[in-house]
Amino acid sequence: MDSKKKYEFTSERLGFRNWDLSDIDEMHAINSDEKVMEFFPGIPTKEQTTEFIERMRKQFRDKGFCYFAVERLDNEAFIGFIGLSEQTYEADFTPCVDIGWRIKSREWNNGFASEGAARCLDYALNELKLENVYAIAPKINRKSEHIMTKIGLVKQYEFEHPLLIKNNRLRTCVLYKTKNDIK
Ligand SMILES: CC(C)(COP(=O)(O)OP(=O)(O)OC[C@H]1O[C@@H](n2cnc3c(N)ncnc32)[C@H](O)[C@@H]1OP(=O)(O)O)[C@@H](O)C(=O)NCCC(=O)NCCS
Repeated sequence: MDSKKKYEFTSERLGFRNWDLSDIDEMHAINSDEKVMEFFPGIPTKEQTTEFIERMRKQFRDKGFCYFAVERLDNEAFIGFIGLSEQTYEADFTPCVDIGWRIKSREWNNGFASEGAARCLDYALNELKLENVYAIAPKINRKSEHIMTKIGLVKQYEFEHPLLIKNNRLRTCVLYKTKNDIK
């Protein structure tokens, strides 16, 4: 089978697809890596990873997008996720669609997140025709913020994230967006 057929879309080196329940173990391994989870409040349990994948599959069914499961095209290895997801927590900019990423640490610094995020942003704006895409990260996650600027998003402001309010280290977040038109 043409391996590209299993993907919704591809970039030069990556394929983006819906999730399978068979991804649970590999995603749980990524979620259990303390390096990957440095800027999150905790390490998800296997049940939480399963719930996440089920939520992504539902969002894909309902909306046609999710944080996509990402594979390398050269070896079809699953390397994590990059994609789009609805955010509905209480904030001035929600509800909105954000772009996010989480890559297996062994695959870092190969340009995969930059390449994949640029492709997902193009998909969001030019194929899904979304008007705006947002990106959010704790201010101390400089690497993630760097990806946002690399794909051309524009910093709007810093805010206290309502879901991280009890976490002194993480609660101050940066908000980036495709267009600089916040009223
Ligand atoms: C953030 C993440 C997705 C980046 O993935 P990646 O595939 O290594 O990213 P890339 O290789 O495309 O780019 C990494 C860039 O960050 C830069 N970088 C590396 N360490 C950095 C740091 N501490 N501060 C700022 N920039 C840094 C690299 O130089 C590179 O930029 P360049 O291409 O301009 O040289 C990955 O580290 C990850 O999964 N982190 C854990 C999950 C996470 O934090 N997600 C975001 C939650 S808000």
